[in-house]
Amino acid sequence: MDSGWGFLIGLLGAVWLLSSGHGEQQSPETAAQRCFCQVSGYLDDCTCDVETIDRFNNYRLFPRLQKLLESDYFRYYKVNLKRPCPFWNDISQCGRRDCAVKPCQSDEVPDGIKSASYKYSEEANNLIEECEQAERLGAVDESLSEETQKAVLQWTKHDDSSDNFCEADDIQSPDAEYVDLLLNPERYTGYKGPDAWKIWNVIYEENCFKPQTIKRPLNPLASGQGKSEENTFYSWLEGLCVEKRAFYRLISGLHASINVHLSARYLLQETWLEKKWGHNITEFQQRFDGILTEGEGPRRLKNLYFLYLIELRALSKVLPFFERPDFQLFTGNKIQDEENKMLLLEILHEIKSFPLHFDENSFFAGDKKEAHKLKEDFRLHFRNISRIMDCVGCFKCRLWGKLQTQGLGTALKILFSEKLIANMPESGPSYEFHLTRQEIVSLFNAFGRISTSVKELENFRNLLQSIH
Ligand SMILES: *[C@@H]1O[C@H](CO)[C@@H](O)[C@H](O)[C@H]1NC(C)=O
Ligand SMILES: *[C@@H]1O[C@H](CO)[C@@H](O)[C@H](O)[C@H]1NC(C)=O
Repeated sequence: MDSGWGFLIGLLGAVWLLSSGHGEQQSPETAAQRCFCQVSGYLDDCTCDVETIDRFNNYRLFPRLQKLLESDYFRYYKVNLKRPCPFWNDISQCGRRDCAVKPCQSDEVPDGIKSASYKYSEEANNLIEECEQAERLGAVDESLSEETQKAVLQWTKHDDSSDNFCEADDIQSPDAEYVDLLLNPERYTGYKGPDAWKIWNVIYEENCFKPQTIKRPLNPLASGQGKSEENTFYSWLEGLCVEKRAFYRLISGLHASINVHLSARYLLQETWLEKKWGHNITEFQQRFDGILTEGEGPRRLKNLYFLYLIELRALSKVLPFFERPDFQLFTGNKIQDEENKMLLLEILHEIKSFPLHFDENSFFAGDKKEAHKLKEDFRLHFRNISRIMDCVGCFKCRLWGKLQTQGLGTALKILFSEKLIANMPESGPSYEFHLTRQEIVSLFNAFGRISTSVKELENFRNLLQSIH
């Protein structure tokens, strides 16, 4: 989602520079340092450093993960984008073309695309093929053995149970459609202003464990608070128990990741012939530069790494589920399905080998009753955030917002199901722990987004160094 706060922050930054008499040119730091100097070394709440993550992600994980996400199993995501917003009257629908999501329906491929030049007809052919594949994926549920069908009944019960962190999207609804994620990339849409502002505001204000006594807005962008107030805010954050602080940091990390994508795939140029998307350094600086954001930017980037570690940890924990011989990445193409499963396992083993995993044992480690209550609170807050995604006015932002919250919700579900995963039978249906195709697709795609963000940070670092 685009927040549209860049402008406000830029303005505040400028006012601050003027009023404090500090010209930018007086700062000895380079542009790259101003975004990244504080984003290095050890992360709070965990024993991992940024440089290790960068190396691991950018060179070992990212390329293989991209390949996996391009496969049929992972590129089609079924989603209901027409659910009404449960919290307020959602009047504004986004008319921008860049916000539109192309659902996959072979009979709806526009004639214009079919008959256009070779490039477009190739695209159209691919589109038809892809849509046929998507329809085939729709058949997955019909090809189940009796034994599995029994398990499915259990899973369905389970999906409604207290293990779920997300409001299950009613994917049986006629409104739910397969969307090809590769054809609908997350990028700058121009979705800004009061609408986008309201979404993030509601998420931070009403759903991030804000204590009654804190009057200051929790949304770090809500006002141009002075330094002293800011310090109060962060000391409050430090005073929170590690779980509640983690919740805030996950949301902030998600917000940061989305903004990295929007800055990296900005609509730079539009002519009647083509659109050009690419890196917009100004946009990136307005969101993450230490001075322009009064110190917020580097914190947001640290939260992005924190989110990365949490999802990485979940993936390492869920390996036994995917290793079971019964598990298939079913699309109907046997050879490809097997190859993809091998790639998936390779990736998960690589993840497991990461030396500095987040230690979730410090989570909910306190007294049992309190831990249980915290976990429940956590779950309810998170479920709520997934419902808020139905209030996002821009469809493309809603698609990626839903996918990423479902992915993070799945990661949390895994982290809280450690015992169930450990007790899973090696073959045959598993009644205790299960992931639906939706959860699997969203988990890996959500992690793919964060992984891409970390990779993009390297690109921005290089770009910022080259302009100095
Ligand atoms: C980059 O983003 C800024 C806003 O952050 C905008 O004013 C500018 O026009 C963008 N640059 C390009 C080339 O689109
Ligand atoms: C869910 O979100 C709505 C809208 O922001 C809010 O009014 C409500 O208090 C939230 N509920 C919980 C349990 O957080």
